This record gives sequence, structure tokens and C-alpha cells, in this order.
Amino acid sequence: MPEPILSARAVAKRFPVGRGPELTAIEGFSLDVREGELLCLLGASGCGKSTMLNLFAGFTQPSAGAVMLRGQPITRIEPRCGMVFQSYALFPWKTVQANVEFGPKMRGVGRAERRQIAARYIDLVKLIGFEDHYPAELSGGMQQRVTLARILAADPEVLLMDEPFAALDAMTRQVMQEELLRLHAESRKTIVFITHSIDEALILADRIVVMSARPGRVKTVLDNNLPTPRRVAVQLLPEFARLKAEIWAHVEEEVRRHDEASRRRGSPTREASDVQA
Ligand SMILES: Nc1ncnc2c1ncn2[C@@H]1O[C@H](COP(=O)(O)OP(=O)(O)O)[C@@H](O)[C@H]1O
Ligand SMILES: [Mg+2]
Repeated sequence: MPEPILSARAVAKRFPVGRGPELTAIEGFSLDVREGELLCLLGASGCGKSTMLNLFAGFTQPSAGAVMLRGQPITRIEPRCGMVFQSYALFPWKTVQANVEFGPKMRGVGRAERRQIAARYIDLVKLIGFEDHYPAELSGGMQQRVTLARILAADPEVLLMDEPFAALDAMTRQVMQEELLRLHAESRKTIVFITHSIDEALILADRIVVMSARPGRVKTVLDNNLPTPRRVAVQLLPEFARLKAEIWAHVEEEVRRHDEASRRRGSPTREASDVQA
């Protein structure tokens, strides 16, 4: 078994809450991410998905356990892990071209080579002809494609994607999903992709990690053996329905467990049942 590119060992993350007891967002989370795979972290909102991704990016540090890149603890913001957020996070005052060139520029890549790199990724995300446009002049889907081109041009070893398509309309989202699958097939970059949509996880992932309700840990890991190259049309296969039911059963169990725990505490059942089927 080759060394995992990213790993989490018995990770806990606690946040201070006013003067009250700390909030435990993650507890006992252990996972190995394999080089080159597209792994989806799936769970209800509030279960700690973003917290876990922030730990992989080195934006925050674990309260216990360790998060590692190629066996080395991640102790500060890790430039080898590139983050794509739900909102587009582009520089609004820079053109598409300048946004995509930003990463290479920061690495000190010269002007001519920067142009070449940018041209390659702008082509890959099908935005040729829009180089001189500003983000505000583009649709949501196009802005998210610029974000993808920008992160790919920065050439991180791992792409961390926090519900990047959640704000897009259903059709644009499908186009983006197929685009991401194509990019992954071509680049074989390791991708950790967060979603609360079972469908999205089944379309995209090589492996699906279902997280428990808060505090988040790994509830189960499923291999996605739906045929590849995958298109959105895999949703029509009987095997898709079978896998979806299997995942849904895991999620439902967590939602119920979380609701019961909330009831025993006498607190309202917030954040519980919003994993999308
Ligand atoms: N910086 C923070 N301070 C306090 N609580 C936080 C912080 N970040 C996240 N949390 C809490 O940790 C839990 C997990 O949050 P998050 O990782 O954002 O969940 P998800 O991304 O799965 O929706 C939530 O209850 C959230 O309110
Ligand atoms: Mg989140």
C-alpha cells in the first residue's frame, strides 16, 4: 500500500464558546487519502466537514491527534494544499487572465511562462475569449471555472474543495461536475471534495466518506464502483439507486442519533436532516 498523501490520525477539534463548555466539532477522525483519488466527504451541515478541510489546509490546528501531508504534520498554512471555496474567491479588480496568473506570479514564474500556464488552464476550463473580462461580467458557473483554472495554475498537490458548486443552479452544477471529472481524469490530482448531496458524491467520488453527526468522525467509507468515465447520466443506473439507498441509511441513522441526543439534552434539533438525497 503506497503512503497516503493526506492523513488524519484521531483528530479532534474543539472551539471555545463564550464562557460555556467548548464545542467539539471533530472527535476521533481518522482517514487516509490516496494519491490521485477524488474523495468526497459527505455529511449533514454542522457535522464538521469544513472544519476538517480547514485542518487539511493548515488554516487551523487540531486540538488532539495529527493531520499529515506525506507523513509530515501540517503545522501552518500548507501551500501544497489549494482550497476552492463555495463562493468564487476571485479578485474582482483583476481580469480572468490576471486571476489565473496569480498563483504562478506568487511563485516567481516569469511573465512569458505565466502567460503559457494561464492559457493552458483557461483553455482547459473552456474560457478562451474571456481572458480580458472581469469576474462581475461572468455568470456564476463561469466564475467558478475561473476559480478552478486559478487553483490548477497554482499547481497544488492536493485540491481541497468546500461545496464549490452549492451556489450554482442545477444545470450549471451538472456541467461543472462533468468538467471536474474531466479535469481529474486529465490531471490525476488528489481531490478532497466536500458535499452534503448524496447524488453529487456518487457522480464525482472514487470513494465516499460518510461522516457522523457532530462531533464529526468517519462513520463509513464506501468504494464507488459506478462505471467510469462517469457522466451525470449514471443517475439512471439501478446500481446508483442501490448505492444511494445504502448511503441514505447511514445518514438517516446519524440524523436520528443526533436528534435523540438533542432531545435528551432538551435542546432543539438544529442542523439535523439536511443531507440532500
Ligand atoms: N471558528 C469556530 N468557532 C466556533 N465554532 C465553530 C467554528 N467553526 C465551526 N464551528 C462549529 O463547529 C461545527 C462544525 O462546523 P463546520 O465544520 O462548519 O460544519 P459543516 O461544514 O459540516 O457544515 C458547527 O457546530 C459550527 O458551528
Ligand atoms: Mg461547511
